[in-house]
Amino acid sequence: MAKQVDSKTILKRLERIDDLPTLPVIAMEVNRLLMDYNTSIKELAETIEKDQAIVPKLLKLVNSAFYGFQSRVGNLSKAIVLLGFNTISNALTSLSVIEAFSSSRGNENLNMIDFWIHSVSVAVISRNLAEKLRLSSPEDAFTGGLLHDIGKVILSQFFPELFLKVYQGAIQDGLSFYEAEKKTIPITHARIGSFLAKKWQLPDSLIDVIRCHHSIRKNVADYDLLCVVHVADIIDHTFITKGNKDFNLPVMNNDAARLLKPVLNSLPEWLPELRKKIEEACGFFLK
Ligand SMILES: [Fe+2]
Ligand SMILES: [Fe+2]
Repeated sequence: MAKQVDSKTILKRLERIDDLPTLPVIAMEVNRLLMDYNTSIKELAETIEKDQAIVPKLLKLVNSAFYGFQSRVGNLSKAIVLLGFNTISNALTSLSVIEAFSSSRGNENLNMIDFWIHSVSVAVISRNLAEKLRLSSPEDAFTGGLLHDIGKVILSQFFPELFLKVYQGAIQDGLSFYEAEKKTIPITHARIGSFLAKKWQLPDSLIDVIRCHHSIRKNVADYDLLCVVHVADIIDHTFITKGNKDFNLPVMNNDAARLLKPVLNSLPEWLPELRKKIEEACGFFLK
């Protein structure tokens, strides 16, 4: 019988893989600058401008319907003043991650188009939940939603035999991907994704969202953010992807459900608007 690998062995193997997707140095530097209260607008703009390819993409995003400015934002410094450091840094991380994974082809069991549609959808839902409830930063929520399942891509790309086991297990036993992972392999996409996020030096709040989006914990860097993404993921699976018409919410973490209760109650009225926003965001990010 083949020797069972454990999670440590898998993470060690991951550590040694040279062609793991990388986040551009600029994005990491910006995340670092953000943690320093003395960083000036000039310093931040100059750092981002070192990557000339990203500047027009950032400005395009800033000028998209997504941020809803009436007049055109023509340069980076103005964008930083209008949107703030945190928003710019999140926009940069989001664009960089999509870019970093643009050459990932997935495999016959992971359709990358579906993967990104789900990710952008959870990002938009998270952002809107955070906005409506004034819970955590809407921009952090967007990035958290966008990245929450990133470990699935790594699993499919670098451990295709494990991915296949999970995929088959999920179909055979009618389980969710996460449940099938726990049943059939020694690691989860949540753990793998958080490993990558750590390597990318993303903020702790994002690492925690990726690691705990299926299993909420209280001792995380941003508990509200974690709950927002957890619920957004469930909303997407239930109402957007599967298009359920009845509004019985499936099982979700009790504390998260309590925290988000005010918006969950108004979800039926809110859903058409949400669908429109998801479509717009997919149009922008997944062209
Ligand atoms: Fe997940
Ligand atoms: Fe998900």
